[in-house]
Amino acid sequence: MEKVKNIIMVIFGASGDLTKRKLMPAIYMLHKDGRLPLSFAIVGISRTPYTDEEYRTYIKENLMLYMKPEEIPSEEDIDKFTSYLHYHAMNPAERDDYKGLNSYLRELDKKIGSKGNYLYYLATPPSLYGVIPQHLKAENLNLNEGKEGKKRIIVEKPFGFDLQSAQSLNEIYRRTFDEEQIFRIDHFLGKETVQNILAFRFANSIFEPLWNRNYVDYVEVTAVENMGIENRGGFFDQTGTLRDMVQNHLIQLLALTAMEPPVAFNATSFRDEVLKVYNSLIPLNETDLREHIVRGQYIASERDQSYREEKNVDPQSRTETYIAMRLELNNWRWKGVPFYIRTGKQMPTKVSEIVIHFKPTPQLLFNCEQGECPKANKLILRIQPNEGILLKIGTKVPGTGFDIHEVEMDFNYKDFNNLSTEDAYSRLIEDCILGDPTLFTRSDAVEASWKFFSPILDYWKNHPEAPLYGYPAGSWGPKESEAMMTEHHAEWTNPCKNLTKTNLYCEL
Ligand code: BG6
Repeated sequence: MEKVKNIIMVIFGASGDLTKRKLMPAIYMLHKDGRLPLSFAIVGISRTPYTDEEYRTYIKENLMLYMKPEEIPSEEDIDKFTSYLHYHAMNPAERDDYKGLNSYLRELDKKIGSKGNYLYYLATPPSLYGVIPQHLKAENLNLNEGKEGKKRIIVEKPFGFDLQSAQSLNEIYRRTFDEEQIFRIDHFLGKETVQNILAFRFANSIFEPLWNRNYVDYVEVTAVENMGIENRGGFFDQTGTLRDMVQNHLIQLLALTAMEPPVAFNATSFRDEVLKVYNSLIPLNETDLREHIVRGQYIASERDQSYREEKNVDPQSRTETYIAMRLELNNWRWKGVPFYIRTGKQMPTKVSEIVIHFKPTPQLLFNCEQGECPKANKLILRIQPNEGILLKIGTKVPGTGFDIHEVEMDFNYKDFNNLSTEDAYSRLIEDCILGDPTLFTRSDAVEASWKFFSPILDYWKNHPEAPLYGYPAGSWGPKESEAMMTEHHAEWTNPCKNLTKTNLYCEL
């Protein structure tokens, strides 16, 4: 791995949603913290005909909208940052346009001295993920040139549409770039709290002996959002929640929770262990496909319109905006322990968390007449918001008798020396500049994940009668997802207490 000191970052999809909402604020933060390479430039690429000045103004306006209020830059600083920005209008799908790109980059390279170091970021619709690397190769824009002149490429998710398309895409990348040049991004892995799952498990010894089928009853992985699909109807309606969230983000969370300790903390060992988890997912049979997956789509409620009324969504759409499912792993550590995962749009709140439900004590020695009865210990790894870790334990209520009440031991990131958690995209873009692929997905892992999830898509395609449950926008999703868990006497940990049939709006 090698840090490059000078680099041109070429963003395909420069006028898109991802660039303005996530990438630019993340790169701005690297600039603010002095973490960008010495010579640095960004070339925005899309078909919209901007001049450099117009593009700078467009990004400036969006930074004001999408930066966290406490991080909004001063006028002076924003001008410094936008001076990195350049713009080159072209059609990324057109082979011939890459000749112009090649000369444009060479010219800029001479001006800023980036020595042929180019980092391509594919923030485009997924249909271009296979086209761009081939066109770059046709202009030799894929080739490392000696010691300097590194070329790297970051590809957004979903990488592939199913197993077959992911394999074809990997094949294209194999022909155009070396694996060490390819950075398949899953921004959940860039989150501080997701990385902390590893630290929590492998930098502490007290929980690891309990982290297995002997002590764990079941595991919940939740990543739900209170927003809908925003302006992304065109993309989302073709993609759906399984491809958008489950095949990548949720399964990564599950992998970090379930994996064995890597022999060392490096890219190969870490990614080998992630792959082993994917390879031990027990393939779903017909019964599982029917009974252990609940798919939903939000319908109109007092809070919002229905999914089918969203812009650029087919009014008859059967695309899922919610999924809950039960998975199992076939390995020594986890055999027989259900993992319940769930994600959805238009839920009452935004929360991502992993809940480890430990087995209850074999015998109930005490009463719990006052307050909430502790059922069993729960460990909650809170990814976002209120980042932290919470352990629920039973405690004696002071006074006569032996009444037990559930209390919480709570660690909050915000109490940690006032350090704020870093933005996921900043971390990952910097890692790519440093040449560190640890937190990026390897080709074999993408395929192993698709191997497990593709049959679900096939099943839905071949069984148009498979239910797609409506749930009111702002509710916790189809009630069938609760029913799926009762078989195991399990229940979702909704962070929302007062949800009733008439009150769908959660007060935390
Ligand atoms: C993206 C999905 O990868 O992750 C979006 O495409 C989703 O649909 C987003 O909203 C959630 O990420 P975060 O970091 O806001 O939880």
